[in-house]
Amino acid sequence: MNESQRRAYAALGIGPAWRMRREESPGDESPDGPPAAGNTAAMEQSVEPASGRPAVPAERPAQPVEPPAGGAPSRAASIAAMDWAALRASVEQCEACALSATRHRTVFGVGDPHAGWMLIGEAPGAEEDRRGEPFVGNAGRLLDAMLAALGLERGRGVFIANTLKCRPPNNRDPSPEELRCCAPYLQRQITLVEPRVIVALGRIAAQALLQTEASIASLRGRVHAYRLGERSIPLVVTYHPAYLLRSLHDKGRAWADLCLARTVHDGNPERTKEP
Ligand code: URA
Repeated sequence: MNESQRRAYAALGIGPAWRMRREESPGDESPDGPPAAGNTAAMEQSVEPASGRPAVPAERPAQPVEPPAGGAPSRAASIAAMDWAALRASVEQCEACALSATRHRTVFGVGDPHAGWMLIGEAPGAEEDRRGEPFVGNAGRLLDAMLAALGLERGRGVFIANTLKCRPPNNRDPSPEELRCCAPYLQRQITLVEPRVIVALGRIAAQALLQTEASIASLRGRVHAYRLGERSIPLVVTYHPAYLLRSLHDKGRAWADLCLARTVHDGNPERTKEP
């Protein structure tokens, strides 16, 4: 173990001998409020036990993104056809929901465009809104420590994004309408990165990506599948770093989740590029 990993383990409050655990969280994370909604792109595809293998095939079809015959392409269809540059420009100019009136900066996401890992949080906070980068506040420092514990670092092999690209005022939960408006951006980012594994950070991201109202406790500890058309990307759910800052006793469970994600990542080397 190198020095940076040793520091990361210490920040996570875990010892170097931690191994993957399969127990479920009895208490769930505290912010178990109303369910997320709005991402019509992905479906809940649970799931197999913590085997490290991708989960079962889709039961529901992914969102259609074809333009209507003879008509102008829908907003979702145009976004689904964008390259990175167009996507970034579209996010910067987005006025699809009311958050555009209160944001200072959009927060597109950061990292390796061909990363094997994609970490998805909820929405920018105050610091992120100021700087235009995800997870740069206290929660971000913990996230960086979690990455270091895995031998990863921001920007190398990892892409970090949020379900929303703009900050909800006072850090309130994203509304269903905001999630719906922003979903095509995240969906396109996932398609372009095509990671080996997605890690959903917290309830809002997990519920939005899996289109479920299930609690974090019931979603953790197994591998889900995020469906994009014909493709399926393994998805692991863990606690949000901001929650872990308040709930030290769940850091070990978060570590178990990350170990599960690493198993999935390492066992899923095949990636087929977009047609
Ligand atoms: N919390 C999130 O979910 N995302 C951020 O970018 C920052 C805090």
